[in-house]
Amino acid sequence: MDPSKEPSKPNYESLYQEFESPLMRELRRDAYGEDIGQHSWVRASDLPRDAARLGISADDLLLDLGCGPCGPLTFLMKSIGCHGFGVDVSAAALSAGLARARSLGVEGRIKVQEANLDGQIPLDANSIDAAISLDVVLHLRDRLHAFLEVARVLKRGARLLFTDAGVVTGSISNEEVAARSMHGFSQFCAPGFNERAIEQAGFSILETENRTAALLENATGRLSARQKHVAELERLEGAGGLARYQDYLRSVIAMAERGALSRMMYLAELR
Ligand SMILES: C[S@@+](CC[C@H](N)C(=O)[O-])C[C@H]1O[C@@H](n2cnc3c(N)ncnc32)[C@H](O)[C@@H]1O
Repeated sequence: MDPSKEPSKPNYESLYQEFESPLMRELRRDAYGEDIGQHSWVRASDLPRDAARLGISADDLLLDLGCGPCGPLTFLMKSIGCHGFGVDVSAAALSAGLARARSLGVEGRIKVQEANLDGQIPLDANSIDAAISLDVVLHLRDRLHAFLEVARVLKRGARLLFTDAGVVTGSISNEEVAARSMHGFSQFCAPGFNERAIEQAGFSILETENRTAALLENATGRLSARQKHVAELERLEGAGGLARYQDYLRSVIAMAERGALSRMMYLAELR
């Protein structure tokens, strides 16, 4: 594989191998209040309203692009009764996701598949009732290609809800860009870029919402939870890894606080 085409697998992979360890669970509980197994800036309280936005109901098939350990997907499956299909490039994330599905009793309604969203989505055309993609698009090399793929697999009139934590709404420095990119390939974009790409892929934008507050809440919670466990984290991540992660969170917080890098939600319907 051309190394320039490699997705952001390595950094997330090591995080996901430890995802269900007692320490990681405690950190998530401390950081988020409600740990639904998310590895993103998702706030559990946003999900029921998002489900209503998507118009999903029991028996529908919900696709999660870049599902990670399937936290938001299994939360929605459990509360709505729908079926779920999770796609991610990380095998470790997907096995954590299947374990979570079993613990919630929804394992009979979930399928997961390892796939790179820079390529084809491993699904038939016109087979999906709704799709989500939470804090993933900034890792994709060509999001128009990904949106065209989503348009191919969704049924006509179906909805896609996605969030992008990389919308540049102020000035950001090279140091901040480097710190923010610690998970691997990351692409930051101007306001309006996602709207144009999604329209070009055949969707109509129904709603956008600034969700930087949820990111700030999660990042601040994660930073202070991690600070309480520095000794254990240093053993796990090494001194350099620990410093890099704390630096990443501080940069995320600083850019969000001054309104320089925003997290946006987009709701779109396939025309
Ligand atoms: C911030 S995490 C979000 C995970 C999940 N959506 C959640 O809310 O918990 C981003 C996810 O995108 C996945 N990812 C990054 N690049 C990808 C690619 N090219 N194809 C598929 N998944 C990718 C990563 O493995 C990671 O699980």
